[in-house]
Amino acid sequence: MGKEFSNIPREVPRVETRFRKIVTALPHPDSLPTLEKLRQFEPQSMRGQPPLVWARAEDIFVYDNYGNQWLDWSSGVLVTNAGHGAREVRQAIIDQVDQCLLHNYVFPSAERAELAEALVKVAPGELNKVFLLTTGSEATECAIKLSRAHGLKIGGQKKIGIVGYERGFHGRTMGAQQAGGMAGQKSWIVNLDPAIVHAPFPDGFWEKNTGFETFLAAIAQAGLKPEEIAGVLMETYQGVGPDFAPISYVKDLAAWCKQHNVILIFDEVQAGFGRTGKFWAFEHYGVVPDLICCGKGISSSLPLSAVIGRAAIMDQFPPGPMTSTHTGNPVCCVAALASLKKIIRDDLAGNAARLEPLLLDGLEQIHQKHPREVGHFSARGLVGGMQMVQAGKPDHDLAHAIIEKCFHKGLLFFSPVGAWGQTVKIAPPLTITREAMLEGLSVLSEAVDECLA
Ligand SMILES: Cc1ncc(COP(=O)(O)O)c(C=O)c1O
Repeated sequence: MGKEFSNIPREVPRVETRFRKIVTALPHPDSLPTLEKLRQFEPQSMRGQPPLVWARAEDIFVYDNYGNQWLDWSSGVLVTNAGHGAREVRQAIIDQVDQCLLHNYVFPSAERAELAEALVKVAPGELNKVFLLTTGSEATECAIKLSRAHGLKIGGQKKIGIVGYERGFHGRTMGAQQAGGMAGQKSWIVNLDPAIVHAPFPDGFWEKNTGFETFLAAIAQAGLKPEEIAGVLMETYQGVGPDFAPISYVKDLAAWCKQHNVILIFDEVQAGFGRTGKFWAFEHYGVVPDLICCGKGISSSLPLSAVIGRAAIMDQFPPGPMTSTHTGNPVCCVAALASLKKIIRDDLAGNAARLEPLLLDGLEQIHQKHPREVGHFSARGLVGGMQMVQAGKPDHDLAHAIIEKCFHKGLLFFSPVGAWGQTVKIAPPLTITREAMLEGLSVLSEAVDECLA
C-alpha cells in the first residue's frame, strides 16, 4: 500500500464551475520547489498525497496559489467537520492569541474548564469526565491504559486483555497500532503483546459471518477467558469501508462487556462530531460505551483529542500520572468550543443525515455501471467509500488512479485507505450543500468511467 502521485506537471483539461476551478498544469510548475524541499527534508512516508501545495482552505474548498480551486472531499483527513477555516473558529483562535495565553501545561485555565464541561454535555449522561490530549493515537493509548488499570484493579494481574478488530485502525503508536488490525503496519513491533488480540470485524463483505459468536470464537482461539479481558476497543464504524457492525452484534457485545466487567471503548476519532448523521456514531447502535475516544473533528482545525468516560474509570490515577504537556492547550480548546457550537447551531449532523441518501444513490449508480470493479460501497451521513477490486482482490492501483483523476478534475480526496489501500474514501466537510454533493458525485463517476475505459 502507498505509492506516490506523479510530481511531473501535466496539462489537464480546464475546469470552471461554481465549485471547481482548474486553470493550470498540475502540479503547478511553481510549486515544484516546495514539493522538492519536502521530499528532501521529510521522510518518504510523507509523500502519499496528491501534489497540491495548499495555500488556503475555506469551508468546502481548498486553493493553491495559482488560481486553482478544489471541491474538498477529504476534510483534511476527516478533521474539518465545521468547514475549513470556519469564521467562528478563526475568530476564537485570534481572540485567544490576542489574550496572550498560548500555553499553560496542566495549570488550570478557563478555556479547558469550559471545553471539558461542553464535551460532557454532549456525551451520554453517565460519561461525565474528560481528559484532553493532542492526537487520536494518544486518546486510544490512554483508553487502553485506563482499561488495563481498571482490569488489574477488579480482576488481578490476568485481567489485562484488550480485544481489537481485524483491519481496525487506532493510530500509529505502539499500543494503538497493536490494537489495530492491519498486520502489515505493525510488523515493526515484532514482539507483539499476546494479551492484545483481534476479532473479525463483522462488515458483511470481507467477513461474511456477522454474528457475535465470531467474537467469542476469536477470544477463545486466542486462549483468553472473559475474566482475562480488560477492554474491547472498536472503531464505531471501521474506517476502511466505512463499515458499521450489525446493531444486534454491538448490543450483544455491550451486554457481554457488562456481564464480564470489560470496558467497552468506542473509537470515535473519525466518526464523532456529526460525521455519520448523528452527533456520535454509536448512537446508531443504541448502546452507550464506557469510554469514547475523540480527535479529528473535535476542533475542525487545531490538534486536540479527548477521552470521555465514566468517573469510576477516569479517576483511577492520583494527581500526576495521567497528564500530558499539551493537555487542553488553550488555543486548541477555544477552537474546539467554537467548532462544537457551530456543529450544533447549524445542525451539521442533520445536514449529513439529509445528504446520506444522495451519496448512497450516487455510489449505487457508479456500482451499477462497474459492478466488478466497485467491490463494495457504503455511506452513512457524510462518510462514504468505494472499495475497488480486481477479480475479487483489493485493487490499490485503481483506487489510486481514480483519486489522481479526480485531483486533475478539481475534486480532492486523500490517498486510498484500507488494509490494502483499496478504498476511495469520501469525507467532505459537513457544511457541504446538495448542489456541491451532486457535482462531486458526477465528477467521481466520470473519473471511474475514464479509469476503466
Ligand atoms: C479511528 C481512528 N482512531 C485513531 C486515529 C489516530 O489519530 P491520529 O492520527 O490523530 O493519531 C485515527 C486516524 O486516522 C482514526 O481514524
